[in-house]
Amino acid sequence: RKILAEDLPDAQVIVVSNREPYIHNEDKNGDVELVVPASGLVSALEPITRACAGTWIAYGGGSADRQVVDGDDRVQVPPENPSYALRRVWLTEEEYQGYYLGFANEGLWPLCHIAFTRPIFRESDWEAYEAVNRKFADTVVAEARNERPIVLVQDYHFALLPRMIRERLPEAIVITFWHIPWPNSEVFSICPWRERILDGLLGSSIIGFHTQFHANNFTESVDRFMESRIERADAAVSYGGQTTLVHAYPISIEWPVQLLKSLPPVEECRAHIRERFGIPADAKLCVGVERLDYTKGILDRFHALEELFIRYPEMIGKAVFLQIAAPSRGTLPAYKHLHEECQRLAEELNERYGSGSYRPVVLVAEHHSQKDVYKIYRAADICLVTSLHDGMNLVAKEFVAARDDEEGVLLLSTFAGASRELLEALIVNPYDAAMMSEAMRQALIMGPDEQRERMRRMREIVRDNNVYRWAGSMLLDAARLRKRGELDRVTA
Ligand code: F6P
Repeated sequence: RKILAEDLPDAQVIVVSNREPYIHNEDKNGDVELVVPASGLVSALEPITRACAGTWIAYGGGSADRQVVDGDDRVQVPPENPSYALRRVWLTEEEYQGYYLGFANEGLWPLCHIAFTRPIFRESDWEAYEAVNRKFADTVVAEARNERPIVLVQDYHFALLPRMIRERLPEAIVITFWHIPWPNSEVFSICPWRERILDGLLGSSIIGFHTQFHANNFTESVDRFMESRIERADAAVSYGGQTTLVHAYPISIEWPVQLLKSLPPVEECRAHIRERFGIPADAKLCVGVERLDYTKGILDRFHALEELFIRYPEMIGKAVFLQIAAPSRGTLPAYKHLHEECQRLAEELNERYGSGSYRPVVLVAEHHSQKDVYKIYRAADICLVTSLHDGMNLVAKEFVAARDDEEGVLLLSTFAGASRELLEALIVNPYDAAMMSEAMRQALIMGPDEQRERMRRMREIVRDNNVYRWAGSMLLDAARLRKRGELDRVTA
């Protein structure tokens, strides 16, 4: 807020994302119920939009939304304390299918993640993607109060949007944040519309990635496929008469002071969660919390648990793995298949290693509220964030933030951006079941002193590098760019 007031005084902040921060669903009684989606993007951007009283433009995807397509497309949120406007964009079934399920999630998602799932590129999906990006551009222009808004474009759903905004609002500051990894230029080259995607993104004033590695991959892709000038010392790309800064801005969370105040103490959370999911008192609780997605390494975690039982049979009965997996993109074959495989493997492990009321794997494929998720973090002895590939992964940061008792162990994939910051986690390769099982054992037998030492350091890092710092550094860079633009105009 201070940066906006001092450095960007006339700025209107517009956030654009696919997911809305409050999904409007219809409950059993026909009343509208607001659900906060399982989305790192939403947890990060929501506090920022609240703080700067911005406008958030997103796809209105809830069951209640669908009925008001011609009705109210603008609501004030959060419901309990309205602080900003949520402007919903309505999509037809075909648009949703082609743009979101198709091009974004069957094309770009597997293209950008190393998870060995082949991307699918269909011409019709591309056309829908382009049309929906245009629809969002129209909405940004309609919402802009002046010629120079700050538009925060979020994620791989909107690669074409920055250019479309730039064409119609040439003086806008467009900050695009790519929440997923960017592949190397060889992998990226298989996308049939690679130049169009790069051209679209280079309409941005700034493009942000979670890690320097992904920022470098992007710059290499530009260098290889576009007529551009790369100024590596300034981390800038000049293309078509415009300069775009390409930087790493590691995303984070809001340090959850209020949320923790509203939660029961750790001991109570432990008792409650153990009772709710039937975890025996003498078993350690290992948890995984994420969307049910093939990039998250859920099956690999189950394999590692089995490996642990094979190597250390004395651990059978002494550890339970609770996997919370919020369904998303569930109509796509890859996601359906993953869901079935997770269920099958969980049942197999329970049959093989369970006895009496002891089930080593509890798989709950349901959405949980943020409060419930934090209770689970607080109840856990170990949290496993073992994605096969991930931009940042905010579950790792949330787990650390939830543990004001300074206990609990984090197992973290070396392929998640968070592993660049949370060095005191037990860093693992999720493809290596033997290594994972050894790390699980190390976590299961780790004493409280070592846990505290590691947790304390990680908590400091997440508290200091919180989401306000993330947004603040992008806004400061934007302010510098704007000043530079003003100077250029004066001296021209
Ligand atoms: O991880 C990338 C991402 O776009 C996040 O930014 C977001 O949390 C998540 O995927 C959303 O998934 P979906 O909206 O498709 O369920």
